[in-house]
Amino acid sequence: MNKVLATLLLGLGLTGAAHAAGDATAGQAKAAVCGACHGADGNSAAPNFPKLAGQGERYLIKQMQDVKEGRRAIVEMTGLLDNLSEQDFADIAAYFASQNGSIGAADPALVKRGEEIFRGGNLETGLPACTGCHAPNGVGNAPAGFPKLNGQHAAYTAKQLTDFREGDRNNDAGDAGIMRTIAAKLSNKDIAAVSSYIQGLH
Ligand code: HEC
Ligand code: HEC
Repeated sequence: MNKVLATLLLGLGLTGAAHAAGDATAGQAKAAVCGACHGADGNSAAPNFPKLAGQGERYLIKQMQDVKEGRRAIVEMTGLLDNLSEQDFADIAAYFASQNGSIGAADPALVKRGEEIFRGGNLETGLPACTGCHAPNGVGNAPAGFPKLNGQHAAYTAKQLTDFREGDRNNDAGDAGIMRTIAAKLSNKDIAAVSSYIQGLH
């Protein structure tokens, strides 16, 4: 009986994984149009276009769904995802997740403050350390859907933290809700410092 149950569960697990799994090779072809802004390998050149290279699949898929369904407004991507299926999203996510994210440099003048926030949060305001969810080296937690941050363009990161704080990014109560609560405790100065620190984090 135990053996049967184990086999059944194993079968379910494998089937589930097979359906959800993305194909990175198929994803590369499907992501060709994305490369114009995000870079062919997901390392974008312009600081307002986020790097997608090395980003976790679960997080990438959620963002694509949020953009497609209008929960996260990105004018530059208007209509681009309309004809893509869940399988396309999984394939594209698998492709970008398989690439190596490049790392930038932090502004030496901002490193100390940025590191304090990232590693220690702020006891006075009740700000949690970023490391708790995004990991000490900033690689995030892919299975949990906590995004990788390290190496990301500071201008993009600063805009996201500001958008979360002002309610201008996804307003869902779940994952984005966590970040709205956190960003509400960040001043403009702290956003600039932690974003610069993240750009150089490796
Ligand atoms: C014309 C430029 C442009 C193109 C083409 C484009 N994007 Fe984007 N994308 C953006 C911008 C700009 C943002 C960030 C907007 C913001 O500041 O919130 C973004 C954000 C994203 C994000 C969220 C990243 C994160 O870290 O949260 C994902 C995922 C994404 N794009 C996937 C795609 C995919 C997949 C394609 C191709 C089907 C694509 N994009 C094509 C400009 C573009
Ligand atoms: C309790 C867990 C948790 C903590 C602590 C946390 N984050 Fe997040 N963060 C998340 C989740 C979950 C998301 C994804 C939100 C979504 O799906 O829209 C996220 C998203 C982000 C993003 C958007 C990434 C992108 O590519 O667009 C940034 C930037 C970010 N967090 C920065 C920070 C900073 C800086 C701190 C510390 C001050 C921090 N986070 C602390 C859970 C957390």
